[in-house]
Amino acid sequence: MNKIENIAWCLPRPRKCKYPGGFPLHAELKLLRECGIDPKQILWHPKILHPFGGMAEYGIRIDMKREVKPDIFADAHNLPVKNEMFDAVFLDPPYNNDYSKSLYNTGKLNFKKYTQEAVRVLKEGGYLIIYHFVATPQIPGTIMIKRIFIETRPWHRPRIIHIHKKSKHEWKIKQQEIEQVKLRRKNV
Ligand SMILES: C[S@@+](CC[C@H](N)C(=O)[O-])C[C@H]1O[C@@H](n2cnc3c(N)ncnc32)[C@H](O)[C@@H]1O
Repeated sequence: MNKIENIAWCLPRPRKCKYPGGFPLHAELKLLRECGIDPKQILWHPKILHPFGGMAEYGIRIDMKREVKPDIFADAHNLPVKNEMFDAVFLDPPYNNDYSKSLYNTGKLNFKKYTQEAVRVLKEGGYLIIYHFVATPQIPGTIMIKRIFIETRPWHRPRIIHIHKKSKHEWKIKQQEIEQVKLRRKNV
């Protein structure tokens, strides 16, 4: 089984734009560094995508809200992007359907669908970063490599970030290992 690195940060300051649900100050840069990406090199290469773009600062922003002036106006569940184009995909969705409606006036979310799309557009070996306020499950076609816990402002919920690496091969091996463990338990 692969080892997952556990990390904790405290990022109590908001960014200047104060976009609702936006990343705290420095979060994006620190996450890129965790993926081994030098932020100074980012313009179009390495390629970074934000399917729930909001006011993200690094990479291409997709969003369904015209007010944030996205690079591409589209739905994260159906990305108008070719397969295996990106080195890193950040998923920072509304945390549930109520937030989607009340904060952004956007529609219902389907975790399986938007994560599948994110994996589709990621290059093999690329990074999928999921930013949420709950622990999200394993994503088919990837392996989880890091968990990051963020304390934000006082009285605000902490965030849980999972960094996954796209690897069809390692995903397959992991599934085989899980099957073997299940079989052993059955036979005990
Ligand atoms: C939590 S915010 C992202 C904030 C961003 N990380 C930042 O730092 O500014 C979620 C964004 O997803 C957008 N959104 C909601 N549903 C969407 C969908 N189905 N497809 C694309 N964007 C969507 C919202 O308009 C909102 O801008």
